[in-house]
Amino acid sequence: MKTLFYLLALSGLILALAACNRDNGVAVASGATPPIPTTVGPVPGGATPPAAHANPFSGNEVALTEGRKLFNWYNCSGCHGGHAGGGMGPSLRDEIWLYGNRDDQIFDSIAQGRAHGMPAWGPKIPEQQIWKLVTYIKSLRTPQEPDPPLMPEQEGIVKGSINSVPEAQK
Ligand code: HEC
Repeated sequence: MKTLFYLLALSGLILALAACNRDNGVAVASGATPPIPTTVGPVPGGATPPAAHANPFSGNEVALTEGRKLFNWYNCSGCHGGHAGGGMGPSLRDEIWLYGNRDDQIFDSIAQGRAHGMPAWGPKIPEQQIWKLVTYIKSLRTPQEPDPPLMPEQEGIVKGSINSVPEAQK
């Protein structure tokens, strides 16, 4: 009889421990991010642009010059500056790209517009011309850039002249 009692007590203890473990499991799950394994598949808009969305004018010198003209023609320069150095719109010459610097991403920036003040040009500019603009923008700061901005010394500005004290006041 005594043995039976011990057996019952023992199984009760085992059950209690099991329940305890289960409780622990629940506590962890509710407090932390559930460890769900996620497979990383192809990311939309990932590294390789689809062939259909590739720049047909990449490296084309005629397209470069036309892109430069279109940049002024459509008054992109009005917001981005005469040589795309920035104005009301961000610089397209620097290394900072809000929406990516791949040809297809620049194409989308122009065609679809961007949230903070970049109009969508898709309905107004033929696709071929948008690619020419992309080609031009990609050439900025490279030796291929058509009509690059003049360096300060070429414009006749002497370094330091603006802040230097005139002779009479010395
Ligand atoms: C009315 C002013 C305005 C005009 C005109 C304009 N843009 Fe923009 N553009 C902007 C602004 C503002 C942004 C930044 C948008 C944002 O931050 O969401 C921008 C963003 C961009 C970007 C993305 C830059 C990046 O860092 O990813 C590109 C490329 C661009 N413009 C090209 C052009 C071209 C080409 C034209 C002419 C067809 C043009 N823009 C005309 C205001 C303008």
